[in-house]
Amino acid sequence: MVQTHRKIMDSQVSTTLNRMHNEADSEGLTIAKGLAKGIFRKIKPEDLKDAYIAISRGQGHFLYNLLIEKDARHIVEFGTSFGISTMYLGAAAKVTGGKVITSELLAKKCKVAQQNFDKANLQDWIEIREGDALETLRDIPDGIDFLLLDGWNDLYLPLLKILEPKFKKGTLIYTDNASFSSAKPLLNYIKANPAKYTTKRLRDAKGGSELTEYIAD
Ligand SMILES: C[S@@+](CC[C@H](N)C(=O)[O-])C[C@H]1O[C@@H](n2cnc3c(N)ncnc32)[C@H](O)[C@@H]1O
Repeated sequence: MVQTHRKIMDSQVSTTLNRMHNEADSEGLTIAKGLAKGIFRKIKPEDLKDAYIAISRGQGHFLYNLLIEKDARHIVEFGTSFGISTMYLGAAAKVTGGKVITSELLAKKCKVAQQNFDKANLQDWIEIREGDALETLRDIPDGIDFLLLDGWNDLYLPLLKILEPKFKKGTLIYTDNASFSSAKPLLNYIKANPAKYTTKRLRDAKGGSELTEYIAD
């Protein structure tokens, strides 16, 4: 699907992203400690408050190229964390003349993500909405070009249903961790609506990812 393989040439963006990815590469223990809390109860976002749990470099470059190729301008994200994925979306928005609206529940993550966007000089292309995405993304303008789903998987379907009226023919939805059972309700809904969606599994991530296109008018 993606024909070109551009690299991010902007040195402020690539330097900041490199540092973030390096930090994320060494957070295995932090994630393990957070996930251990899920032995007795469901994992909460707060359990992973110090972890990036980010997309990979390969996924980021795929998304950067895809968004530029599709000339995506109205870009929405569920799940900012410290902002790795958002940096790729913001870098693409800087090229297309677009804007990213991203959502994160935890205030501390929003603060650090904003600092990262400022360091990369991407602040004019990214708006962070702090709080529950099911509320903060309700008033998104119509005509979404691209949606990245990378927050809590059990909220993927309720969020998609909130945003669906704002889709247009050709809207792309990239779902991270699509092979997790918690993403099943979303994928079942997409597959049960072939008049609205075409979809395919990508092999670009450990947890699997799904690229879906809204095909209805
Ligand atoms: C997998 S991480 C996102 C990683 C990020 N996309 C990246 O690649 O750098 C998921 C994030 O979703 C946030 N989150 C969970 N539930 C949320 C909700 N209801 N609204 C907004 N954000 C939420 C978590 O706090 C966490 O930071």
